[in-house]
Amino acid sequence: MNYDTIKEEIKDIDITLPPPQEEPERQYYFIKKLQHWMELKKEEKGRELTCCVNTFGCQMNARDSEKIIGILMTIGYKVVEDEDADLVIFNTCTVRENANLKVYGRLGQLKKIKNKNPEMITMLCGCMMQEESVVEKIKKSYRNVDIIFGTHNIFKFAELLSMKVLDRAESKKMIIDVWKDTTEIVEELPVERKYHFKSGVNIMFGCNNFCSYCIVPYVRGRERSREPEDIIAEIECLVKDGVVEVMLLGQNVNSYGKNLENPISFTELLRRVEKIEGLKRIRFMTSHPKDLSDELIEVMAKSKKICKQMHLPLQSGSSRLLKIMNRHYDKEQYLTLVDKLRAAIPDIGISTDIIVGFPNETEEQFQDTLSLYEECEYDLAYTFIYSPREGTPAAKMQDNVPFEQKQDRLERLNEVVKEKALKQNQRFLNQIVDVLVDGPSKRDETMMTGYTAHQKLINFKGRKEDIGKIVPVKVTEVKTWALKGEQVD
Ligand code: 5AD
Ligand code: SF4
Repeated sequence: MNYDTIKEEIKDIDITLPPPQEEPERQYYFIKKLQHWMELKKEEKGRELTCCVNTFGCQMNARDSEKIIGILMTIGYKVVEDEDADLVIFNTCTVRENANLKVYGRLGQLKKIKNKNPEMITMLCGCMMQEESVVEKIKKSYRNVDIIFGTHNIFKFAELLSMKVLDRAESKKMIIDVWKDTTEIVEELPVERKYHFKSGVNIMFGCNNFCSYCIVPYVRGRERSREPEDIIAEIECLVKDGVVEVMLLGQNVNSYGKNLENPISFTELLRRVEKIEGLKRIRFMTSHPKDLSDELIEVMAKSKKICKQMHLPLQSGSSRLLKIMNRHYDKEQYLTLVDKLRAAIPDIGISTDIIVGFPNETEEQFQDTLSLYEECEYDLAYTFIYSPREGTPAAKMQDNVPFEQKQDRLERLNEVVKEKALKQNQRFLNQIVDVLVDGPSKRDETMMTGYTAHQKLINFKGRKEDIGKIVPVKVTEVKTWALKGEQVD
């Protein structure tokens, strides 16, 4: 079902009856109730009501926010960037401690705004809310938050909001609805995409890997895959709606489909997605090295639509640390994988995630990471200082590495990352690359910006009429984090 069909379904709902039990009809019911409330509010205030959704963290959160914005817009809210809005939502991340600190900082600022506008509604959701200690802290120190919900019940957004604004008994309380886990996947809710020509598509939720440093399995729950038919139907709808590029999203896409009643592999899903006419580019993330199959490499090599680019988190170049991290591969196995990828797809771009300063990481182990980084010829890396997360096995490990040393390692690693990024970009100099045009560059309105199939950001002299199209661009200059070019005919 596309957005318009969903809107029609909502129109047909009878709100004089009690709410239906089944989903998504139950949510359609609350959306419709809120639409009526919104009309009255607009009249009362003599203006549109605004909302601001602030997203922290990864692509999964970004996609969740699009779902929340889809519901908000269907209700009738106007989306704004400013936190001085009638409704403000923080979709939070907790993968590292500073993500939490950022949210507390913003909540402090929000308090002041809300003092000026007591009718303002504030909501918190996302991974951070799955932690009991966080919810306790908010209950104690941020009393003016109105609604807290977690990662498993985003689909209930309209119901929670209507409790706040339509239910007298609930409206004065802080509404908290956080589920520990779920097996439920609710389809067919409105989604508002950031771009009309490209979109993320969830293929699975949760993670079963329990890497020893990582909080994701605790806050996103066990792995659940969507039915392939639902994924294909969604992408077909997106393509009809103008989408030419999809990013298939999952914490570990290579284990997609294993828990379905009729199991199917990720490569089989890719084959099916590839057949969708009108779809031009397929990306996916994230791939866990332990599950990346030869079959996937083969499918990628043959495909005309799957972008020749892979995000393959390494985390550490030390086999000993990889074992303690519970990653299920060692340095040699990882290198073999990279060799296989490069043998099958010579121009593949590989990016990665790396953690430095894991408990008791020695200089020698860090050197292993540096040398593996050199060897793998990465295009890009997201690098992090290890951050202990409560409840994970690594958080219980004694650590004898001073923070300054961790910081020093991060800086040394980042130097290599920078050097390699520039080196890898140089292979595109004077080449003609296909670019999906995003729009005018924020820094220079006369330039257009977009991404190549290798996920390289490129600023180029182009045409506004080509936004959303894939156009050929000649690379005229190469920088560390971006390319520059000119559109050619
Ligand atoms: N500390 C630092 N980095 C972390 N990551 C996940 N958990 C932690 C942590 N506790 C990093 C990993 C992962 C990326 C999304 O975040 O590199 O791949
Ligand atoms: Fe976290 Fe590991 Fe799962 Fe990635 S694979 S989300 S690092 S537990």
